[in-house]
Amino acid sequence: MNIRPRRNRKSSAIRAMLEETKIGTEHLIYPIFLKDGKGIKDEVSSLPNNYRWSIDKLIPEIEECLKLGIYTYDIFPAVDEALKDKIASYSYAEDNFYLNAIRTLKDKFPEIVLMSDVAMDPYSSDGHDGLVEDGKILNDETLPILNKMALAQAQAGIDIIGPSDMMDGRVESIRETLDINGYTYVSIMSYTAKYASAFYGPFRDALNSAPKSGDKKTYQMNPANKREALLEAELDFLEGADMLMVKPALCYLDIIHVLKENFNIPITAYNVSGECAMVYAAAEKGWLNYDIAVAEILLSIRRAGADGILTYFAKDFAKFKKK
Ligand code: PBG
Repeated sequence: MNIRPRRNRKSSAIRAMLEETKIGTEHLIYPIFLKDGKGIKDEVSSLPNNYRWSIDKLIPEIEECLKLGIYTYDIFPAVDEALKDKIASYSYAEDNFYLNAIRTLKDKFPEIVLMSDVAMDPYSSDGHDGLVEDGKILNDETLPILNKMALAQAQAGIDIIGPSDMMDGRVESIRETLDINGYTYVSIMSYTAKYASAFYGPFRDALNSAPKSGDKKTYQMNPANKREALLEAELDFLEGADMLMVKPALCYLDIIHVLKENFNIPITAYNVSGECAMVYAAAEKGWLNYDIAVAEILLSIRRAGADGILTYFAKDFAKFKKK
């Protein structure tokens, strides 16, 4: 045998030198649920270890995460049912607790990067990402609402906007709105290939945002399709997206890979709630080693080609890395 691959694995130092993929806290985006009020740290039952925070409780939590090296956060609002309506008007309301919290966080922690979803579902009484009429999800009629939401978030100080609804033409529409209002420096990370997935369950529990009727299959993608992801990516790229996201991550590593090969802008992946919940549940039963499984999962998403990863594991992984 003159070729023995094991020689390159014979010590920890050699393995480290030859390691092809790196994963650190700088690659992670931490999704966080925010609730109106004071003194709230309310655990999401289907996503243990994750909470709906009120802003006063969230501030010390972010301080802790910053010390662990997590600088980027995606904040989601858990909106009171009474404030939801058909047109998601609370998303751009004057006294919106979520927009106020963005202001507070950017003020208190100027070094952090804040990301936000632009989609109607957390604010919609129909629980859909777009306007609903006679059971249909309207596309073009939804765009002006997304524009208002994006502008309100930009005014509050958001760094990255994440159009997450899979409507057609939303990146172009939001980019134009941001630019004509002077927010040319606000980035867009498009949810480019977002699949109609079973793995969003715990997230919808956290925000109570599940569709009141029907499903999301007329806007989110069919899990069977890969070439369609290339079409979505091409459109988002041409419409001015700065980064392209694939979601979920684990069942879609091939999609992350194919976008990375074909587009010369950063690719990100959303390691979604259901993917994390599976690991929490198995670890709780003692069926796998949590820290090692999490590290392997995040590494695999990076190896597939993701530059950044949105993950509920962010804080635990950061603690594990520090050890
Ligand atoms: C809503 C949105 C969803 C997620 C992020 N933004 C859920 C959905 O489309 O129903 C899911 C994230 C997760 O499961 O962690 N536009």
